[in-house]
Amino acid sequence: MNQSYWIESSVNRGYSKLNSSEECDCAVIGGGIAGLTTAYLLSKKGKKVKLVDANEIGYGCTGRNTGKITTQHNIIYSKIKKKYGIEKAKNYYDGNKSAVDFIENLIKENEIECEFKRTTSYVFANSDKGMKDLREEFDVCKEIGIDCEFVYELPIPLEVKGAILFNNVAEFNPKMYCDNLGDLIIKEGATIYENSPIVEVEEGAKCTIKTREGKYIQCNQLVLAAHFPFYDGLSFYFARLNPDRSYIVAGYTESTNLEGMYISVDEPRRSIHYINGNGEKLLLIGGENHKVGEGKDINYYDVLKDYGASNFGVSNYKYEWSAEDYITPDYMPYIGALNKSTKNIFVATGFNKWGLTNGTLAGIIISDLIVDGKSEYEETFNPSRMKTYFSTEFLKHNGDVAYRYIKGKLNMGDLDTDIKKGEEKIIFLDGNRYGAYRDNSGELFIVDITCTHLGCELSWNDIEKSWDCPCHGSRFNYEGGILEGPATEPLKRYKDGENKINPKIL
Ligand code: FES
Repeated sequence: MNQSYWIESSVNRGYSKLNSSEECDCAVIGGGIAGLTTAYLLSKKGKKVKLVDANEIGYGCTGRNTGKITTQHNIIYSKIKKKYGIEKAKNYYDGNKSAVDFIENLIKENEIECEFKRTTSYVFANSDKGMKDLREEFDVCKEIGIDCEFVYELPIPLEVKGAILFNNVAEFNPKMYCDNLGDLIIKEGATIYENSPIVEVEEGAKCTIKTREGKYIQCNQLVLAAHFPFYDGLSFYFARLNPDRSYIVAGYTESTNLEGMYISVDEPRRSIHYINGNGEKLLLIGGENHKVGEGKDINYYDVLKDYGASNFGVSNYKYEWSAEDYITPDYMPYIGALNKSTKNIFVATGFNKWGLTNGTLAGIIISDLIVDGKSEYEETFNPSRMKTYFSTEFLKHNGDVAYRYIKGKLNMGDLDTDIKKGEEKIIFLDGNRYGAYRDNSGELFIVDITCTHLGCELSWNDIEKSWDCPCHGSRFNYEGGILEGPATEPLKRYKDGENKINPKIL
């Protein structure tokens, strides 16, 4: 299993690698929904655009979510109102609504097949605290003018104390959408490169981005839309983004008349979504999120499957997958200029698990900033807003990173190097700590487990057989290859020397 339904159900186009050095007006790093929307809109507005992705387009977070295109982002509008006031909360809503409408219009105009339809979304509570949060959220939603209702029952077999129903949101297959959006980008004259990880960025009047193989693109404007801005121009994004992992299972359900999208306010968080998959009804259940590198020793997929079985009678599970998201201290993304002094590098990150609308909105904002020099949403999503620093979430995250950093260094490892098939161990060899894993064929993989981003010590993730960084979310497979950034260098194998820590950020 361990595959996303979305990724399995769409055909990747197979774009070539960046094999030569090139120039363009705008380069975009990252082929998720944010990078693709930006590239499409810039090309439409006459810019010569090149987009590069480390893997395949739509293969990262965009192809691993729940397929919800919604302005209902759990409890969000009351939080924004408390911190920034009602006008900012309204601007956040207007921006995300414009993203939903943009996706629908693009699909209709270009007759894109991607299982799009308008539907409803509910955020529900089962506790008194959850109900209090819902009431506050509902009042702010009404103040903004959102088309929503407060209800006491769901149209699915799940008892709740109360819920907010958003009408007129939507759903689609995000990977199919991205593959089709890629086709439109090519039609507009832009270029897409896949399997071309960028490892270096040079700022200047013209920016240069380079692959590990030394191929480069020179551009007037650069857009960093690769989930986490591995290049941050000393803007400390790593201190303002909290990496979070979550899990999704998808199983066949006989309840063919059930529809809609649901999410709980209370913990443990549950996201529920009925979709039509391969002509059959699938129930997607998401949840069990935790900080990267801090997973418990349990099988999260089994927990979600049990929830689906006991609440909805689903037992035939066909897909399971996981995703990584970045959470900001004020729960609003960073979209705009990289920092106050850099005028030609733009960033889109920190979508707080709502990347399909926030990512699309990022494309709208950044293309407007590059072409027109302004956007109506610019101030709300400005990455340099100061209040992100003055929050308990910011202090908690960075206190936790410091604790993890020190704790990792103090864990010296085991002198006993006897490791059985399918087992991992942190071992101490030649005066250094290593992570060792013996695969099911008996081959032993020993890697330096000091993270190549900023030097935190990695933790073992037994469900996904990976080395995960609790500081900023980089992940590596047991052979040392990169699964998730911000790290740009793989782990070194035993006897190949020590890992290279990113010298530009240090
Ligand atoms: Fe930053 Fe590992 S991701 S130290």
